Amino acid sequence: MRRPTPLPEIAALLTLTAPVAPAHLVRHPCVIPLTPSIQTHFPHQMTHAAKIPTSGVTPAPQRPPVTISPMDPLLAWRKEFPILANTVYMVSHSLGAMPRRAKECLAEYADTWASRGVRAWHEGWWELPITTGDILARILGAGPGEIAMQPNVSLAQAIIHSCLDFPEHRNRIVTGALNFPTNHYLFHALEPLGAEVVTVPSRDGLGIETEDLLAAIDERTRLVSVSHVLFRTSYVQDLAAIAARAHAVGAFLAADLYQSAGTVPINIRELGLDFATGGSVKWLCGGPGAGYLYVRRELWPTLEPKLTGWMAHQQPFAFEPGPQRYAPDAFRFLHGTPNIPGLYAARSGYEIIEEAGVPAIRAKSIRQTERLIELARDAGLAVNSPLAPARRGGVVTLDVPDGQSVVDELSRRGILVDYRPGSGIRLAPHFYTEDAELDATIAAVRELVPVRAL
Ligand SMILES: Cc1ncc(COP(=O)(O)O)c(C=O)c1O
Repeated sequence: MRRPTPLPEIAALLTLTAPVAPAHLVRHPCVIPLTPSIQTHFPHQMTHAAKIPTSGVTPAPQRPPVTISPMDPLLAWRKEFPILANTVYMVSHSLGAMPRRAKECLAEYADTWASRGVRAWHEGWWELPITTGDILARILGAGPGEIAMQPNVSLAQAIIHSCLDFPEHRNRIVTGALNFPTNHYLFHALEPLGAEVVTVPSRDGLGIETEDLLAAIDERTRLVSVSHVLFRTSYVQDLAAIAARAHAVGAFLAADLYQSAGTVPINIRELGLDFATGGSVKWLCGGPGAGYLYVRRELWPTLEPKLTGWMAHQQPFAFEPGPQRYAPDAFRFLHGTPNIPGLYAARSGYEIIEEAGVPAIRAKSIRQTERLIELARDAGLAVNSPLAPARRGGVVTLDVPDGQSVVDELSRRGILVDYRPGSGIRLAPHFYTEDAELDATIAAVRELVPVRAL
């Protein structure tokens, strides 16, 4: 991308040369209005009321219409997700269904780029990593201006690490063996900088015992870094206990919320997390390219990420050479040009999740995962997920032989699930799932798994 036009030129463009754009071109329903907490980097910032149109996507061939039971009002959202018309979508732990409004937001991104050109940066694009984070903040219990969107979790975690040092007396990173691999790779990459990685093993392959994790955290720990919900088995970790222990010994706690945000309630501030990361691909139905990073506001003045860039500068448009002068707000955790189309796409999913309500989504998820477990056991299938509802996230894993072929055949039949070696096939109902789809999925798995293997 070309560097944005320096401010005096922008001012000249706006005040002297640009014709006033027709109202329909400058109103961006998918761009989020600024909150007063956000430092405005452009002097000519325009804000726009947020309102998303709801028509426009041609639906796929329809299955029979769903009768929305008063017992399950969340089914009313089905019509917002085109793919549900012709598939049994049990894979939201991997890629959440696309809301039809996301297509409109992406079209709006293209229209804005086409019609507003470089002016789009000061009509909302520049602040989009923070204003998009503001919608998420309402779902995750963070404050306005506290979440900086990132391209993905790998980068968000690396930014956290780049804020830390690892002196000999305080060099340990404590994590669990079932953390997502990207995080393990990053921890070990810090070893040449003096970090010592302490990986707490799993006793049963399903989860990490909280007492084992707590025992590994001591005064030598710089960072405790865990997933809230484990990706392989959907085991829910006890973040409150881990936070209490980490803070008692003066360590930071980073939580990867990817597998909980949007399905298991979380309140970042109540838990006192120092850092949180996640992405939008899964339960948040926000699509790829919209990861996020939360950093506890009180820590901002003390943290200087080495993974940085011009967007994190106090005066990015001064284009100063020399050392970084970090922005005082969450912009300090940004770096280069953000993934603007990814942020446009992500918004609709967040809004729907917020309106549907994570507590209601969680209640339904517990009910439907219970039912899946019951159906699987009745069919003689081995369940590889925590059985206690409080310890189980949104996924039920079935340990079947030749799991990938089962997944492939289910896909041919229009039932979408996935497979992870070492755990099994993962089934994930979400707030838009009908009970009948649970029955259909288990019946199909039962048919495909050879009887001799049961
Ligand atoms: C818990 C968890 N963390 C991280 C990731 C991947 O992160 P990213 O691809 O955004 O770097 C995943 C993806 O499956 C995940 O489940």
